[in-house]
Amino acid sequence: MFEHVTAYAGDPILGLMDKFANDPRTDIKVNLGVGVYYTEDGKLPVLECVKAAEAIIANPPRPRGYLPMDGLPGYRKACQDLLFGKNSAVVAEGRVATIATLGGSGALKVGADFIHQWFPTAKCYVSNPTWGNHISIFEGAGMEVGKYPYYDPATIGVKFDELCEFFKTLNENDVVLLHPCCHNPTGVDLTREQWDVLLQIVKDQKLIPFMDIAYQGFGEDMDGDAYAIRRAVEMGLPVFVSNSFSKNLSLYGERVGGLSVVSPTKEESDKVHGQLKFTVRRIYSSPPAHGNAVVDIVMNDDKLFTQWVGEVYEMRDRIREMRQKLQDVLSAKLPERDFSYFTKQQGMFSFTGLTAEQVVRLRDEFAVYMVENGRMCIAGLNNANVEYVANAMAEVLK
Ligand code: PLP
Ligand code: LMR
Repeated sequence: MFEHVTAYAGDPILGLMDKFANDPRTDIKVNLGVGVYYTEDGKLPVLECVKAAEAIIANPPRPRGYLPMDGLPGYRKACQDLLFGKNSAVVAEGRVATIATLGGSGALKVGADFIHQWFPTAKCYVSNPTWGNHISIFEGAGMEVGKYPYYDPATIGVKFDELCEFFKTLNENDVVLLHPCCHNPTGVDLTREQWDVLLQIVKDQKLIPFMDIAYQGFGEDMDGDAYAIRRAVEMGLPVFVSNSFSKNLSLYGERVGGLSVVSPTKEESDKVHGQLKFTVRRIYSSPPAHGNAVVDIVMNDDKLFTQWVGEVYEMRDRIREMRQKLQDVLSAKLPERDFSYFTKQQGMFSFTGLTAEQVVRLRDEFAVYMVENGRMCIAGLNNANVEYVANAMAEVLK
């Protein structure tokens, strides 16, 4: 019956979490694989603003009816305020259709299904490299996925000229998947000047920009990290935005994200909104209630919102501190090498340039876990393990 079903090789990131959990070297093991923020104590935090919202939800306990297909109105508004700014003209004009989704992954899936249905010949282009699941999600939606030049190992920067030339070869309505901040996996972002140039090409070529923002607040700050999105909107582009609250609210397992589509007119936007709801209806019908309620409460209460932003910046600043420490220790150990990329990159991730063999050695000999492509999650470092990790890295780099 199922003889023809092929084996699943496992996910390169999530599979690593299992391997880490099963590693018996509990005294030394360090998890720098999955993109999850851990505190200085190595714990997954429950944010204070989330605790406050959950206290409200629990007292008195809320009935758990079905949510609307597109989520709670206050949740959708929260996504719009964060992504487009509180006084956004496009939002006021009714040109943004926003739905709550099952994490950023759910937003990508709903967006990809929608695009494949209404633009059946469109191809999707992702950065080389990108978060692996981007490719799986868009291919899973039936789209052909190609790669655009992005990371340059020689400069540990962006191949910007090649990237621009490549975009000029794409066809109308091709989708370009972009990371507005904290590029996953490299940590290498475009400058504002580069965004301005690239988005003009996107406009000239009539491409569809799909901005995937999973780390808002971890790069520069809440508004700064949304620069590319707001610039694209300002330029009159039809933009797709998938956002995730997994990291910046530390609500990974609640599956909280959003999909927003900016249309040229309110009439089109209303139709798009309807079709997004239908897309949701036929996949999972409606989003889960708890995460929607937490986001709604935190984001629409001035005090809790301010507290939240402060908590995100604390996470951001701890990551920056760890970048600096790692750079300092490694530079002292191997002075002939340049490790300044650690503090130039943004967000949770650093592309270390380590080879797959070196990554395997780190895991086997030192119980330090990183993704095989050389990506390290800096948010897994703390003052107790950073020197150990730096020493281990220095050892495999020798
Ligand atoms: N997009 C990027 C770039 C990510 O790194 C992630 C990671 O989780 C996602 C989307 C998915 O977000 P979620 O975990 O909320 O599904
Ligand atoms: C990651 O890249 O590690 C995170 O985005 C988690 C995931 O789902 O892969």
